[in-house]
Amino acid sequence: MPRRILTTSALPYVNGHIHLGHLVEYLQTDIWVRFQRLAGNRCVYVCADDTHGTATMIRARQEGRSEQEIIRDMAKAHQDDFAAFDIRFDHYGSTDSSSNQVLVNEFWAALRAAGRVVEKDVTQLFDPKAGTFLADRFVRGTCPNPACRSPDQPGDSCDKCGTTYSPTDLIDPVSTLSGAKPELRSARHYFVQLEPFHAFLDQWTQSGAVHPDIAKWLKNTFLADALRDWDVSRPAPYFGFEIPDAPGNYFYVWLDAPIGYIAATRDWCNATGEDYRRWWKDPSCEVHHFIGKDITYFHTLFWPAMLQTAGYALPKQVHIHGFLTVDGEKMSKSKGTFIRARTYLEHLDPAYLRYFYASKLTAKAEDIDLNLEEFAAKVNSDLIGKVVNLASRTARFIPALSAVYPDDGGLFAAGAAESAAIAQAYDEGDFNQAMRRIMALADRANEYVEKAAPWALKKSAATNPADAERLAQVCTVSLNLFRQLAGYLAPVLPRLADQAGTLLGRPIAAWSNADAPVVGVPVAGFARMLDRVDPAKVAAMVAGGRLEDPAPAKAAAATGSSTAPITVPAHEVELTVPLDEIETESDSAALRDEPLAAVIDFAAFSRVDLRVAEVLAAEDVPKAKKIIKLTLGLGGSERRTVFAGIKSAYKPEQLVGRLIVFVANLEPRKMSFGVSEGMALAAGLGEQEIFLLSPDTGAKPGMRIH
Ligand code: 2FM
Ligand code: ZN
Repeated sequence: MPRRILTTSALPYVNGHIHLGHLVEYLQTDIWVRFQRLAGNRCVYVCADDTHGTATMIRARQEGRSEQEIIRDMAKAHQDDFAAFDIRFDHYGSTDSSSNQVLVNEFWAALRAAGRVVEKDVTQLFDPKAGTFLADRFVRGTCPNPACRSPDQPGDSCDKCGTTYSPTDLIDPVSTLSGAKPELRSARHYFVQLEPFHAFLDQWTQSGAVHPDIAKWLKNTFLADALRDWDVSRPAPYFGFEIPDAPGNYFYVWLDAPIGYIAATRDWCNATGEDYRRWWKDPSCEVHHFIGKDITYFHTLFWPAMLQTAGYALPKQVHIHGFLTVDGEKMSKSKGTFIRARTYLEHLDPAYLRYFYASKLTAKAEDIDLNLEEFAAKVNSDLIGKVVNLASRTARFIPALSAVYPDDGGLFAAGAAESAAIAQAYDEGDFNQAMRRIMALADRANEYVEKAAPWALKKSAATNPADAERLAQVCTVSLNLFRQLAGYLAPVLPRLADQAGTLLGRPIAAWSNADAPVVGVPVAGFARMLDRVDPAKVAAMVAGGRLEDPAPAKAAAATGSSTAPITVPAHEVELTVPLDEIETESDSAALRDEPLAAVIDFAAFSRVDLRVAEVLAAEDVPKAKKIIKLTLGLGGSERRTVFAGIKSAYKPEQLVGRLIVFVANLEPRKMSFGVSEGMALAAGLGEQEIFLLSPDTGAKPGMRIH
């Protein structure tokens, strides 16, 4: 029986552009939704812009535009960014919609009727110049901690000493809206009592709706004490919905935002003729929220209490992810790592990020790090080196798949046997586990192809019918294993799955498509699938990130202060031909003569100490036919002697003064004419065909080559 699932991601604030931090969640949700659909479940994915609050009001004032204009422009920008990352919503709404207002009033009436609303006077800082009460983030001042007294600290906690406080405790507070000195003013606020829900929330939070780690954390923190009343109103001026029975007061943005999930569903239902109650009031429908850990308490305490009061279904699960760091640190504008979705898209393929995040995400709320070196290495090694390679190395060799699936030593069947475990990992949000299982299958597929060497069979196939037959079989196996992997990766890489479907004329439309091999069909002309990550483009993206304004809404949480420049290490410079392209017969000769070696991990590569070296002296070694003795300088007084087999292509006098690439930590080798203390790197097959490698102009002796 297919499941019916309503899925949401947290509604992004209208005040900022989508950045790489946001994308963790939207990609996580999109992958999960795509998996559910492939698995045959009915899964609807809705989202909306979170529009209300002081920040929108202030921005409208500053820009001399209406809030609605800002909302319209940002809705388009957000949706364009999401679409470009292949994030597909069934409906993308706005919390500033009439459908949301109707629902918010309904929830309010239910809270009132249940006797959960109380009124209290609240004293807050007020900006007399801007004419508005000030949320914590709009106040800065000197830290009240006597041992600290750091100036220019935020309204809720000190960046220097970590003390938390109320903005009214700040010494010499200043409004960041106008620069005015705020005054203390009192106003009536409306509160929702949460303590009456304590027993219900104790039970619900421990019922499997959140990861056990989160359940434990809630139990030991918020739920360990009486739950405090929740302030859900703001006095005018405020951009939001006016409280129907309290004119001059507005619903706080966090009251109307989650109700926006229901409103977006309702708008989608109105457009499609469905009944929204079948999604939100029917216990047979599962509601799944995806959120970041910073908004856990809104979704696991306030929201269930509101839903229960208003007679809506409780979420089946709240999936909570951690924060994103880039190169191990908070995203930072000065380092160029506060990167907007748009900036990323100007330089890099969205598939890379989809895969990289998938490989990191688990069901736990652990932070994930976008290490830019690892990002390039992982994508190139896994997607290009292990997956696309299976197709690019074999698709051009045969016009059609064999009529009968050949004996592959049980590889395809072993892959099909992994289907349930991979599906379970996706369903449980453990994408890391799913990716690891898929890549283990890819490793086995590559071992098969390495061993079967279709490039060698291709050479002999023209004259040897048995080799022609074997070539067809090997390629049939390789292409089927590729298709199986592309099917398993389809939730993460929908475009690759489409390309795999086109290549073999059988679209990947269901999870079960990976169960049986395809035979007898023509193989379409091989079209480029995915390029290697180009490190220069990663560097360009980071450079672009330095020019961006961080989004006002979440900038404070994500912006660091360091000004150290970011460089993308030179080791990402491509030293090999891209694996996903074998363009023509002549282009492929080098690869045919010496097929690419098995993939090694980054750690294995980093053990090789490659250095720029200057040839200080070069002498003929008369006793040896092929050898020239090189004295290499590594900067300063560091010298190495190397006996290089390059005499057939170079004369000693051609070499003195040039920079070469040198393996510095190779075990010294004793030869009859002396000890060679490393190796000079060269390409080519020998004789005249020896080409020493040189760094670009500007490199200095001793520099490490990464
Ligand atoms: O934290 C945020 O970015 C909020 N805009 C999320 C709102 S989620 C939901 F409750 F609407
Ligand atoms: Zn302090």
